[in-house]
Amino acid sequence: MINESDPLISHLLCRRDTRNIKIESNGTAGEYNGKFVSGRVALWSDSCVAPADRIRCHSRRSIYSKGRWHIRYALDQEPMKRNPAAKNFYDAHPGKGDLRREVIDGLASKPKSIPPKFFYDRRGSELFDAICELPEYYQTRTEMEILRNCVAELVEHIGPDCLLVELGSGASKKVRLLLEQLRPSSYLGVDISKEFLLHSTQVLASDYPWLDVHAACVDFSHTLDMPHCDAFEHKVAFFPGSSIGNFDPNGAIELMKRIAQMMDMNGQLLIGVDLKKNVDILNAAYNDAAGITADFNLNLLTRIRQELDSDIDPKTFEHSAFYNEDQGRIEMHLISTVAQRIRIDDHFFDFDAGETIHTENSYKYTVEEFAQLAAAVGFNQERVWTDESKLFSVQLLRTV
Ligand SMILES: C[S@@+](CC[C@H](N)C(=O)[O-])C[C@H]1O[C@@H](n2cnc3c(N)ncnc32)[C@H](O)[C@@H]1O
Repeated sequence: MINESDPLISHLLCRRDTRNIKIESNGTAGEYNGKFVSGRVALWSDSCVAPADRIRCHSRRSIYSKGRWHIRYALDQEPMKRNPAAKNFYDAHPGKGDLRREVIDGLASKPKSIPPKFFYDRRGSELFDAICELPEYYQTRTEMEILRNCVAELVEHIGPDCLLVELGSGASKKVRLLLEQLRPSSYLGVDISKEFLLHSTQVLASDYPWLDVHAACVDFSHTLDMPHCDAFEHKVAFFPGSSIGNFDPNGAIELMKRIAQMMDMNGQLLIGVDLKKNVDILNAAYNDAAGITADFNLNLLTRIRQELDSDIDPKTFEHSAFYNEDQGRIEMHLISTVAQRIRIDDHFFDFDAGETIHTENSYKYTVEEFAQLAAAVGFNQERVWTDESKLFSVQLLRTV
């Protein structure tokens, strides 16, 4: 029986990945025709070719999923004990108290709102990963295409042996396009979604045995104070996914100031910035036909119901997303379909039918507009790469 909520399985399913997972080893073990082999010798499942300090306990299974994909995988029996990221893990995960306080404050405000960072419990991160695969969601594939095309040039600008800090690292997929050529001496994944962060950095550490992998669960809208950074002079921040667009321009400036301070005002920021474009393309990207973005938006209410003492019913809300031309941003809302009163602990919130909770903004910029924003923090646009259709940009900023 497949447990699709298992992080590794869901990761494989999301990637439609039929590759077999390698045994972590000194490079001599791999999988061939469904068997784990070392050289030409097939290994029994308890064989070991890894150096003593790299031994993993694992179990192997073959599974069929949805009648289509044949996946063989190895699962650690005690993953956290051997997880390099767990060993190098800085945990400042915002607790239930923060969620409770910010949700109550947001629902008490007019208009009602909840910050988008609370989308990202484990289920929310998995749903976001699924959004990245959607045909309407041009952002991910376009940013990846740009990164693939610019990586050689990027390496010339950055040089080797940096501490690479990925902000909002999520599934840590895009960074894979940089690692082999950039050869950072250390990687720090930073995300608010703790379980997902630990899992993603664990897989990264296993796939890149030469890389020193660290993880920090912090809310970067409050702080970027992370102990691992102090040890490095050459720091590069990587902030993909146009997550900067989730902040209004003033909030974006404040966040970029924190990033500049984290780099001791002496570093580079490689950032993905979504560009202004045809409104139909934008509206489609946040209203996919499969309804995954709607599930992602509504999962916020499921999370509130699960983690807080609340009677909120996600079935009485609907997803809404549209481009607000005046503000230059996509807005996401949850619309109450009925007049209702909801409770969180001993706090009550009244909704009219049609009233919304504003859950996310995604600001879009021209290259020039973003240059102005960056300049307000003291960042120079060192280099800007875009795709041919100018849907998305990857910008290398340097503190001046
Ligand atoms: C839009 S997703 C981008 C994921 C990935 N970087 C990509 O490009 O596909 C935003 C990511 O930032 C994380 N995130 C959102 N708000 C955050 C916050 N305030 N502090 C830390 N991480 C946050 C989420 O958990 C999520 O992984």
